[in-house]
Amino acid sequence: MVATQIRTEKVQQSRVQSVDWNNLPFGKIFSDHMFVSDYRNGEWTDDRIVPFGHFTMHPASMVLHYGQTIFEGMKASKLADGTPVLLSPLDHAKRLNASARRLMMAEFPEERFVEAVSQLVALDQDWIPPAEGSALYLRPFMFATDEFIGVRPSDSYRFCIFTAPVGPYYAKPVRLVVEQEYIRAVPGGTGEAKAGGNYAASLLPAYLAQQKGFDQVVWMGGPKQTQIQEVGTMNIFFVIDGEVVTPATDGAILKGITRKNFIAILRDKGYQVTERVVEIDEIVAAHDAGKLEEMFGAGTAAVVSHVAELQYKDKLMVLPDVAERKIGPMLKKHIDGLRTGAVEDKFNWLVRV
Ligand code: COI
Repeated sequence: MVATQIRTEKVQQSRVQSVDWNNLPFGKIFSDHMFVSDYRNGEWTDDRIVPFGHFTMHPASMVLHYGQTIFEGMKASKLADGTPVLLSPLDHAKRLNASARRLMMAEFPEERFVEAVSQLVALDQDWIPPAEGSALYLRPFMFATDEFIGVRPSDSYRFCIFTAPVGPYYAKPVRLVVEQEYIRAVPGGTGEAKAGGNYAASLLPAYLAQQKGFDQVVWMGGPKQTQIQEVGTMNIFFVIDGEVVTPATDGAILKGITRKNFIAILRDKGYQVTERVVEIDEIVAAHDAGKLEEMFGAGTAAVVSHVAELQYKDKLMVLPDVAERKIGPMLKKHIDGLRTGAVEDKFNWLVRV
């Protein structure tokens, strides 16, 4: 790895003693330090790790007006011997840069990304939660900082990584509804990028679904809006009569790293996994024939999020109890085991820091 000069300014007093490890809400507690780098005059400069804190922003900062902002979500954990590890950090660096290209933002050098994450996690390793299923969530993100209100790509950016000890994103199996009115993305749009605007656009449909008692919507695509894309915060998998099926990425679906890792784990274990167009009608038919064995979301935050119920128009499909499922629970156990070293890292996804 290329050694990068990262200036480090440590906190005088860590806040880690104040954390209640038995009560970790998702995304509300932040660790002591953050990494920051600024893009000016065509280069990333002043890489630094500093105490976690606020930014001061100019009201005309371009991100506030035209939404050039992208992010990643990744996790750090500890092996049984206490060594902190990152899961697939290079994949996250590459995906951040793919998002940057789509939004015409500056790319951050990938090895430097991994180095920054490693140094930050090494410094704040006491913030990695001890419980299985918990982790230190890492949030790398980038935004436009030019002070200008004409529409064009910004010439300057800030890249930051902060970390947050987290428990599960969804505490219990989720209830989903097939979205009939709003559209998340179409091929050629920004759906494949991890761009803030994609999430902003999802908030109203998610709110309306929540008003009806659901946790999230299932996004639809295809010429007639009959093809399943993904769930608000995750990619989606089905187990139909023993076969694992997930929508093929088509430019509108986020290329999930957890999705990719799950496919690799499943194929390695001998399961048949098919990436293809998934029509809602076939899911209904599989359910009615008693062949819809499992449905689960996959994402960094959610890991495996079992789907309890799926509503489509006036039909409510109830999935089998989680206790009767095999594949979703196996994947969850596999990833949790990988993060602690209990499961062999066959694909070399772990990076020790
Ligand atoms: C993640 O899974 O890390 C995500 O970025 C989803 C998020 C919106 C919580």
